[in-house]
Amino acid sequence: MGKNKLAKFANMNEYPHVFQYPFAVLKEKGFEMKGKWNEMFFKNNNPIILELGCGKGEYSVGLAKLYPENNFIGVDIKGARMWSGAKQSFEEKLENVAFLRTHIELLSNFFDEGEVSEIWITFPDPQMNKVNRRMTSTRFMKLYAQFLKPNGVVHLKSDSNFMFTYTSEMVDLNDLKVLFKTDDLYHSDLVDDILSIKTFYEQQWIARGLNIKYLKFEYLPKEDWVEPEVEIEQDSYRSYGRSNSQILTKRI
Ligand SMILES: C[S@@+](CC[C@H](N)C(=O)[O-])C[C@H]1O[C@@H](n2cnc3c(N)ncnc32)[C@H](O)[C@@H]1O
Repeated sequence: MGKNKLAKFANMNEYPHVFQYPFAVLKEKGFEMKGKWNEMFFKNNNPIILELGCGKGEYSVGLAKLYPENNFIGVDIKGARMWSGAKQSFEEKLENVAFLRTHIELLSNFFDEGEVSEIWITFPDPQMNKVNRRMTSTRFMKLYAQFLKPNGVVHLKSDSNFMFTYTSEMVDLNDLKVLFKTDDLYHSDLVDDILSIKTFYEQQWIARGLNIKYLKFEYLPKEDWVEPEVEIEQDSYRSYGRSNSQILTKRI
């Protein structure tokens, strides 16, 4: 492991707002703040909002600055990426943001039923060939029921037409209420501080000439989730290297 990465991991271990638990420890001892994030960490009763697959945590930090009346937690399995947001929020002394390094699939070990009010999913890998790993699949919707409030809100921001179409189908098929939807965010009339935050991946997709899509919907726990079975055209550009960005811009 490079020196840089080691230094980042050392920082992460010291930051008071970063939580990372090896699975063995979690299994043996559990997580003491489950159901008590507000009482034990944030020391208020404000809504808790998660950014899943937060990468460098641009949304967690950006939203925390815009909305001091909410609490934000960035979740990702990659510590070296998360370090950027953890460092920035530590240095800026933001008290309403934390980071949790774990697999999203394990989140019910960290949050109690109804503890979370909103979820942001920012530029996830669309997992075009593995529906079960797609963060808006019905498998994940069932998982979110373990901690997301009924009538909670899910935000998806994506470059991927595949991910956007799939999620729209999933929402329609399961009668979830669409709160906002656009397949071209930055050429629409919508002006919103929240959407002006741009993540690391987002900036790269914009530089390649891609339109950014945004879908916001209301979550409802269900007994029988219906998985969409429609065929969706795959995003061919995803296998291109950086040097192909010009070709991509011409084709789109
Ligand atoms: C394409 S990146 C996007 C990062 C960031 N949201 C952005 O827009 O720059 C997807 C992120 O999701 C994380 N991720 C994917 N699946 C995950 C899982 N099951 N549990 C935790 N993190 C996951 C990856 O580690 C990666 O950082």
